[in-house]
Amino acid sequence: MDARTSRYHDVYARWQRDPQGFWGEAARDIDWIEPPKQVFDPNAGVYGRWFTGGVCNTCWNAVDRHVLRGRGEQAAIIYDSPLAGQKRTISYHRLQVETQVLAAILRNLGVEKGDRVVLYMPMVPEAVIAMLACARIGAVHSVVFGGFAANELATRIDDAKPKLILSASCGLEVGRIVKYKPLLDEAIALARHKPDACLILQRPQQEAALVPGRDHDWAKLRDEAIVFARSVYDCVPVAATDPLYILYTSGTTGRPKGVVRDNGGHMVALKWSMQNLYGVEPGEVYWAASDVGWVVGHSYIVYAPLLHGCTSILFEGKPVGTPDAGAFWRVIAEHGCIAMFTAPTAFRAIKKEDPQGKLLAQYDLSKFRTLFLAGERADPDTVQWAEKLLRVPVIDHWWQTETGWAIAGNPVGLGQLPVKYGSASVAMPGYQIDIVDDARKPVAANKIGSIVIKLPLPPACLPTLWQQDERFKESYLAEFPGYYKTADAGFKDEDGYIHVMSRTDDIINVAGHRLSTGGMEEVLAAHKDVAECAVIGVVDELKGEVPCGFIVLKAGVNRPVAEIEQECIALVREKIGPVAAFKLAIAVARLPKTRSGKILRGTMKKIADGEAWTMPATIDDPAILGEIGAALKGRGLGA
Ligand code: COA
Ligand code: AMP
Repeated sequence: MDARTSRYHDVYARWQRDPQGFWGEAARDIDWIEPPKQVFDPNAGVYGRWFTGGVCNTCWNAVDRHVLRGRGEQAAIIYDSPLAGQKRTISYHRLQVETQVLAAILRNLGVEKGDRVVLYMPMVPEAVIAMLACARIGAVHSVVFGGFAANELATRIDDAKPKLILSASCGLEVGRIVKYKPLLDEAIALARHKPDACLILQRPQQEAALVPGRDHDWAKLRDEAIVFARSVYDCVPVAATDPLYILYTSGTTGRPKGVVRDNGGHMVALKWSMQNLYGVEPGEVYWAASDVGWVVGHSYIVYAPLLHGCTSILFEGKPVGTPDAGAFWRVIAEHGCIAMFTAPTAFRAIKKEDPQGKLLAQYDLSKFRTLFLAGERADPDTVQWAEKLLRVPVIDHWWQTETGWAIAGNPVGLGQLPVKYGSASVAMPGYQIDIVDDARKPVAANKIGSIVIKLPLPPACLPTLWQQDERFKESYLAEFPGYYKTADAGFKDEDGYIHVMSRTDDIINVAGHRLSTGGMEEVLAAHKDVAECAVIGVVDELKGEVPCGFIVLKAGVNRPVAEIEQECIALVREKIGPVAAFKLAIAVARLPKTRSGKILRGTMKKIADGEAWTMPATIDDPAILGEIGAALKGRGLGA
């Protein structure tokens, strides 16, 4: 681990000198039906487009080409589900057959190139097959995380306007079965847009009733299609700039943003990252313990490992409780996993249950080389605990749904740089990261400011928001002209290491899941007895942050306050979903505001977290902060 022996600085400098040459070279690792005419066209799209004129197919590159080149018998996916009590290995050849069959089914159900297909699926192989089948026929998939409620699903259906929805009868959580089908039915009832059809995977744990004329049984159609599919649907040529998928992520309001990912640039950057950032060779076993509903799942459970010819583990379980805090070690040992990627919260959960890491002794982790963490700030305690226990490098890296791959990281494949605790390390090639102040001027090393990325963004980053170029420009490009705004604040040290400290908007990070407090406020404000409200993220030992909602009741409401608080909690779960982890609503008499009426959420958060705070000069009534402090204290929060 020496900065001088790593190739990182040379490679980054090579990219800086000649970005097009750099990415043009990386693009040679992809099979093109027609090679791109230009590596980057600055005049296309909102800020330019990558690999214009190129024609390709993502499913071909992720599946078929490996079969053609001798990996047919290698495991592509290892499905390991302690929740279902099931394990299944799917070879590249089997994956090819299954994507062909499903592609044929999709086409028979009327799905054409460019049509959208929504997936509301648990962590089962069919979810991966469905993503790849869409890619195969040029349809645009949009996966919605299973922990979101019907209302959130409906919002996404209305935005993506899918021709078809793929779902399952249920998902599995520790100790309970989550019935997906009633949520899907409710979402379709709520949505203005109605899909033509739904394909439902019946899981043995809980079968669902199908709606005649709309719903189809997945297994039945598969059995019928398997006979004729093989010869019918080959990979459909798509433009490199055509959308591969839309992934909705929390915006600063309840309205989610449809992050668009293209085909060509996405493949190029993800393939590059596997070797150079993660240090993984084709044929090796790689595991991202996330969910296909999140960007980490899209990029590093599905696309990147498969593009690279690796074996990817699909784990339907939790770090603890399935059955114990040794689950991760069991999976790594059993499948010969060499690198793992998860969120720090998962390791905090393990540390809490098994602080000495005693369960590790039962397993042989000799093949395991590196642990990667992302999704939230990796706290030094957790990183050091994992390092000590696993005796491998623990690498924090920073990225966003929007970018699709790491903005900053420690490139193990190029030669690991020294680790600095609390930092996500250095900018990846493709990203020029600057720290600027409110006047858009660069700040000195070690000074906190807004983290911005110089345009153009590298391949795989979002070219725009789904059918909302203007919203894309307003949200990301307007505030710092010539730059993409990450909405993260932090600093760069004298060695160029990036330290990401907090968001500059209302997004909070709960157990590595990105949520909008504004979205939760919209739900609370809709409660009939709530006059106004504020939601903040408070520090949580396990989940990093959890939401805490303050509600002010309408005058004349005289029902028991505790009852209304419980209703608010239930309402957020019902409207946003269990993933919001909204478990604390506190009724207060008034909210602290500035004289111009702005709620002082930042100060409330400091009080809740027990941090030092100063009285804002613009506060309207200083006494209110005392009331907030007392209310928090009543719930065991704050100093
Ligand atoms: N479908 C339905 N419900 C889901 C769900 C899904 N796919 N995923 C989570 N939920 C539910 C959970 O059951 C829980 O419900 P509860 O309030 O009834 O307990 C709720 O949503 C909150 O989930 P979560 O925040 O994940 O908490 P948890 O207690 O179930 O698990 C961790 C905590 C830390 C173990 C878990 O979040 C984890 O493993 N995180 C690390 C990996 C990861 O997800 N990373 C994401 C980005 S890399
Ligand atoms: P998501 O879009 O869900 O991946 O969430 C992206 C946000 O998570 C970022 O904007 C950061 O606020 C946070 N984040 C992700 N990875 C890290 C990291 N390694 N360090 C600090 N924050 C991170």
